[in-house]
Amino acid sequence: MTDRITIRKPDDWHLHVRDGAMLKACMPFTARIFGRAIIMPNLVPPVTTVDAAIAYRRRVLAAVPDGAAFRPLMTCYLTDDTSADEVERGFNEGVFTAVKLYPVGATTNSAAGVTDFKLVRPVIERMEKIGMPLLLHGEEAADPTVDVFDREAVFIERRLIPLARDFPALKMVLEHVSSKIGVEYVRSAAPRIVGTITPYHMILTRTDMLGHGIRPYFYCMPVVKCEEDRLALRRAATSGEACFFLGTDSAPHPVARKLDVCGIPGVFNSPVAIETYAKIFDEEGALDKLEAFAALNGPGHYGLAPNEETITLERVEWTAPEEMAVEGPDERALIYRGGETIEWRVVGE
Ligand code: NCD
Ligand code: ZN
Repeated sequence: MTDRITIRKPDDWHLHVRDGAMLKACMPFTARIFGRAIIMPNLVPPVTTVDAAIAYRRRVLAAVPDGAAFRPLMTCYLTDDTSADEVERGFNEGVFTAVKLYPVGATTNSAAGVTDFKLVRPVIERMEKIGMPLLLHGEEAADPTVDVFDREAVFIERRLIPLARDFPALKMVLEHVSSKIGVEYVRSAAPRIVGTITPYHMILTRTDMLGHGIRPYFYCMPVVKCEEDRLALRRAATSGEACFFLGTDSAPHPVARKLDVCGIPGVFNSPVAIETYAKIFDEEGALDKLEAFAALNGPGHYGLAPNEETITLERVEWTAPEEMAVEGPDERALIYRGGETIEWRVVGE
C-alpha cells in the first residue's frame, strides 16, 4: 500500500475566491497547495474589463500569505456586450488567460451572462483566431422545460456541438463536468475540448443531497447527479487521459446565503481539495495518475509549463475544520467535509 506520494505542485483550473473579507479568508487555503489557479470572474459586478481584472488580480495577490509562490490566472466574464478588442488586448497583455461563458441564470452571479449565443460570436471568432481558451459553464438553464439534472447534456447538444463545429480551432474547457454524457463528449472532442472535474462530483450523488434530509451544503451547479455519473467521473479523472484535469470549483458563501429559503449553489472545498482527490485516486487504485490529473494535464492544455516544485501527501488522518471565519458581517463559511476524518495530509502543513 502506498502511504506517501510526491507529485509536482498542482494547479487549480477552476476557483472562486470572491472579494473583500471572504477573499482574505479563503485565499490561504489555495495558496498553501496550488501553484496557480484560474480565478473565476463572477464577482458583483463581474470582471469584464482589463482594468477590472488587473485591479482584482492585485487584490487576490494581496490576500496571498507572505512566502507563498502563488500565481492567479485571470478570466474575463463574457457578456452580451463584451468587445473582441478588449478581450484580445487583455490576452496580449498577459492579463486574461481565458474567457468565461456563463449562460444567463445558470449559476451564482450569472445574471450578466450570455442571453443569446449569436451576440458573442464576434468575440469567440477573435478568440479562435488568437488561440485564447473559452471556459464554459456548460448548462442549458434558460429553458424552463429542461430538467435541472439534464442541463449539461442539453447544453452539449444545443450549444457545445454547434460551437465546436462553427469554430473548429477554438480551445474550450467544459468546466466541472458532472455527468457520464459530459465525460463521453469530452473524450470524443479531445484534445481541443477538455474538462475539469471537482472532488465533490466524484463523491456525492443527488441521493446524498436529497435522500436523507436536504443538504444545502451539497448544493452546487451543476447539481450532483446519480451513481452512474459519479462513477464515470471517477473513471475519467483517474484514467490518466490528458483531457481531464483538476478544477475544484471551490466556491465559498456566507452561511446565511447557503441556508436561505432560496439557497445559493457552491461548495467550499479548497481546505480539503487535494486531500480529497488523493483519497479518490487511492480508492480507485490510481495514485500513480494523480500527478497527471493535478499538475500536468492542465498546463498542457493551457500551453504552460508544469510547476517545478513538488508537494508530498501522506496517509495520515486529521479532522477537517468545520468552518472558516470571515471578518465582518459575513462572519463564516462552512467547509466541505468539515468535521470529517480526512485520510491524506500534505506534509509540512
Ligand atoms: C459557483 C459560485 O458559487 O460562484 N457555484 C457553483 O455552484 N459551482 C459558480 C459556478 O461555478 O457555477
Ligand atoms: Zn465555479
